Amino acid sequence: MSLRACSQRFGAAIRSQQRRVAGQSRRSYASTATAASSLPQEMKNSIDKEASLSNPDPPSDSSTARLVSSQNPYMVPTYVRPPPMFQQGEGCYIWDVENRPYLDFTAGIAVNSLGHCDPEISKILYQQSQTLVHCSNLYYSPWIGALSQLLVEKTRESDGMKDVGKVFVCNSGSEANEAAIKFARKHGRTVQPNGSKHEIVSFNNSFHGRTMGALSATPNPKYQKPFAPMVPGFRYGTYNDVSAINDLVTEATCGVIIEPIQGEGGVNVATQEFLLALRKRCNEVNAVLIYDEIQCGLSRTGQLWAHCALPAEAHPDILTTAKALGNGIPIGATLVTDDVSSKIVTGDHGTTFGGNPLACRVAHYCLTRLSEPDLQKAVVQKEARFRQHMTRLHQRFPKIIQEVRGRGLILGMQLTSDPTPVITAARERGLLIITCGTNTLRFVPPLIVSDEEIDKGMAVLGDAMAAVFEQPEVVKGTDGQQEMRATH
Ligand SMILES: Cc1ncc(COP(=O)(O)O)c(C=O)c1O
Repeated sequence: MSLRACSQRFGAAIRSQQRRVAGQSRRSYASTATAASSLPQEMKNSIDKEASLSNPDPPSDSSTARLVSSQNPYMVPTYVRPPPMFQQGEGCYIWDVENRPYLDFTAGIAVNSLGHCDPEISKILYQQSQTLVHCSNLYYSPWIGALSQLLVEKTRESDGMKDVGKVFVCNSGSEANEAAIKFARKHGRTVQPNGSKHEIVSFNNSFHGRTMGALSATPNPKYQKPFAPMVPGFRYGTYNDVSAINDLVTEATCGVIIEPIQGEGGVNVATQEFLLALRKRCNEVNAVLIYDEIQCGLSRTGQLWAHCALPAEAHPDILTTAKALGNGIPIGATLVTDDVSSKIVTGDHGTTFGGNPLACRVAHYCLTRLSEPDLQKAVVQKEARFRQHMTRLHQRFPKIIQEVRGRGLILGMQLTSDPTPVITAARERGLLIITCGTNTLRFVPPLIVSDEEIDKGMAVLGDAMAAVFEQPEVVKGTDGQQEMRATH
């Protein structure tokens, strides 16, 4: 048995005794247990460490590891995953197969905004699964229309996308962006039938998805290089560089796609000046402006859409959404103006599953809840609470924490070093967080996270950072939970 596996067994045994010994601190109990033994010092240290953790990663001889290694040979290795395996969720918690709870500040990467297994969503899923799950888009069914109408109405009520008119419903964020890119190309082809107006502009550090069109708009060499050549006709600019816009967006441009707040790229917020200038330039050259709000939309900033904070002169022609729209049931949507819609004709685009009654009915419910003003107000208050904790952490680790970026409950804490060990240390203490950009810790918890859960999670994060930066030899980072990191 490996040293680590052996010490984790001891740790587990000690933890189970701890649960029975009231009032005795974990650390002191473990130390007492190991101090009296004749084990090598290295093993004693390891046992003490394991005993101090609530959720040490399952060792290589655990039932979790056995299950993982029996299943892994059948899965294309597109992800590097950390050792625990998750099987159940409720609210802001998710449990692993060893029945240990983790506070989830990732929300499935900004998906479970209403928390895990919301009881009302479970009820809707059950009812609709007994009514109608799928009906081809060749026929009318009520929920795709109801969802489209609600998306338009809620967007108007929220002072978002001033000319929003119609919706195309699909299955994911990438597909919503594929539709947006195709609609922009069709717009260009309609304005300039010789095909010269076909360029799509996007920005460094953006993330628009993994399908070939969305990937071509995602200028990250790690993602693009293995699959080159990209779709032709994509150009890239620097986020927030107002001075470069005129040369970047030209008469050849049919569309510009941008995240008002970049998620994967590091929680970078576009300035109002930049988005106003982009909008103005798109008007000059008759290109459509596409806002990808797949991660930052649906009240994550405290407003229905991140761009609701902007004046109407900066609003888009196309808006894409997904992630929280289904709270975990796959769905995406592309909102367009009537002008863009007028250029799309039957047969231009379609989908088999997109807009099925099951996903649309769930999304209709999620959108109703997510657009409630009370929920949105609470998001702003929770941001303030997170930021208070982050300020305290900054005082404690002034050399490690550089800045905090973002809005509402999409926040990025920029570190001066690799956050991988912090991610591991937090997970082993029962908190899930993820990274983004370069050395950034990303906070995208469920929007229903309570004050107590924020306090608890941030206390765990403080402990994790102390373990990593005050005793660096104790915690080694393991891979996994890093969306932007390419496999090694
Ligand atoms: C801003 C943004 N756009 C697009 C996507 C792609 O969405 P999906 O993974 O659902 O295809 C993501 C996913 O992380 C995203 O954050």
